Amino acid sequence: MLRSTSLLSRMAATDQKKNIVIIGGGIIGSTTAYFLSHHEKFDKEVHNITLLEATKIAGGASGKAGGLLALWAYPSCIVPLSYRLHKELADKHGGAERWGYRAVHCGQLDARGRAPSNSKSTSNSNKNSVSLQKRSEKAIGLLRAAGVPKDLDWFAAESISSYDEMGDLSTTAQVHPYQFTTSMASLAEEQGVEIIFGSATSINQKDGAVNSVTYNSKETGESKQIEADTVILTAGPWTRTIWPTAPISALRAHSVTIRPSRPVSAYALFTSIEIPKPVSRRSKTATPEIYARPNNEVYACGEGDTLIPLPSSTDLVQVDQSRCQDIIEQVGSISDELRDGEVTARQACYLPNVSLGGGPMIGETGGKGLLIGAGHTCWGIQNAPGTGKVLSEMVWEGKVKSANLSSLDPRKFM
Ligand SMILES: Cc1cc2nc3c(=O)[nH]c(=O)nc-3n(C[C@H](O)[C@H](O)[C@H](O)COP(=O)(O)OP(=O)(O)OC[C@H]3O[C@@H](n4cnc5c(N)ncnc54)[C@H](O)[C@@H]3O)c2cc1C
Ligand SMILES: *[C@@H]1O[C@H](CO)[C@@H](O)[C@H](O)[C@H]1NC(C)=O
Ligand SMILES: *[C@@H]1O[C@H](CO)[C@@H](O)[C@H](O)[C@H]1NC(C)=O
Ligand SMILES: *[C@@H]1O[C@H](CO)[C@@H](O)[C@H](O)[C@H]1NC(C)=O
Repeated sequence: MLRSTSLLSRMAATDQKKNIVIIGGGIIGSTTAYFLSHHEKFDKEVHNITLLEATKIAGGASGKAGGLLALWAYPSCIVPLSYRLHKELADKHGGAERWGYRAVHCGQLDARGRAPSNSKSTSNSNKNSVSLQKRSEKAIGLLRAAGVPKDLDWFAAESISSYDEMGDLSTTAQVHPYQFTTSMASLAEEQGVEIIFGSATSINQKDGAVNSVTYNSKETGESKQIEADTVILTAGPWTRTIWPTAPISALRAHSVTIRPSRPVSAYALFTSIEIPKPVSRRSKTATPEIYARPNNEVYACGEGDTLIPLPSSTDLVQVDQSRCQDIIEQVGSISDELRDGEVTARQACYLPNVSLGGGPMIGETGGKGLLIGAGHTCWGIQNAPGTGKVLSEMVWEGKVKSANLSSLDPRKFM
């Protein structure tokens, strides 16, 4: 009796054995692997989940983004779920230590940059000047007049023209995106997900249903195949190389990280900086985003460009040093702490842009067993856990329970 029951249940399980292949190990693919493998229906003795990554986990935007999380981000159908999941993941896995999860203040800072020569001499005269006291009193007065919070003290008082709060500790948080993404991939692997390094070249279908994925092995260059009844495409800006009709384009953006000359308070800032002529070759107003991070790091990114089309893989992305230098000079023109700090990274990556507007696209496509989670534009770090969670519900339960994502249905975009 016992024996036959267990045999029956085992047969049922075998019937429903799933071979799931996720294409792309950025934040969306890694978080999807995490939620698929932490779902109660996943049994690693029965089902296979493979995460196929062409180059390196978090080698693209997911490792080089700012990492801002906000309840006021978009689209609103997924933001609250995803914001809450970020907190739950951090609580469960020690995210504060492991990937720098913390609440931050957020605001818009408008400022006038100092020319490099002026800012240098200011700092020199500051250092050995007897009028230091007076200066700083005047400075404090100026900052108060501009509405700058007391602990936001790492910008030159004379350059700030206004500050407007955009979010506080209850609505804004951050993660270190590289650490978060690689942690998600490792936690998925510990749960039984297999990570394979190789570049998918085609998703193969038979009778309208997916049955395998062909890829070139990174190690040997050999073309190989993995059986699959479920394929989830999470290749960010590269989605089109496997699925040419997906309306996802790519936008390059540069960023830098700086170790400031002294520790700075926890603020994520959107800025608008009037740049004096000698600093800027390109524009008069610059709008870098500046995020303080734990462990004495500040991240800053600049505007996008379309000068160099998306290369075939993350390790071939070209970094234009002059664009990084622009960002360094812009942020240095309003902050001594950043100007006198040490630049620790100069990098570039491609943002997945949904060219019809809106996005991301999350869910089933026309083809049986083919799902997509891509086109997260500038909020992919914020919206990754929500995306992974709902994709895992679609796969294991056949429907989404945690949110109403009908407006993100991929079939609306194709
Ligand atoms: C400068 C900048 C700052 C940003 N700041 C923030 C922020 O503060 N907050 C926020 O929420 N979002 C931010 N974003 C947006 C966020 O970075 C992206 O939305 C997110 O990283 C997209 O993740 P993804 O997994 O879809 O794509 P990606 O990170 O690009 O990952 C795609 C992966 O797929 C792999 N791949 C590609 N082709 C194949 C193939 N054929 N086979 C196998 N693997 C393949 C690639 O190697 C890559 O690893 C920022 C973006 C930029 C550019
Ligand atoms: C599932 O994974 C196991 C172990 O990695 C492997 O031996 C087996 O071939 C896989 N099954 C299919 C159908 O891919
Ligand atoms: C990005 O998408 C917007 C629509 O949201 C579109 O107008 C714009 O041209 C796209 N940019 C690039 C570089 O593809
Ligand atoms: C889901 O949201 C759409 C609008 O985006 C709405 O039309 C629909 O009624 C909602 N469905 C449910 C079940 O709430």
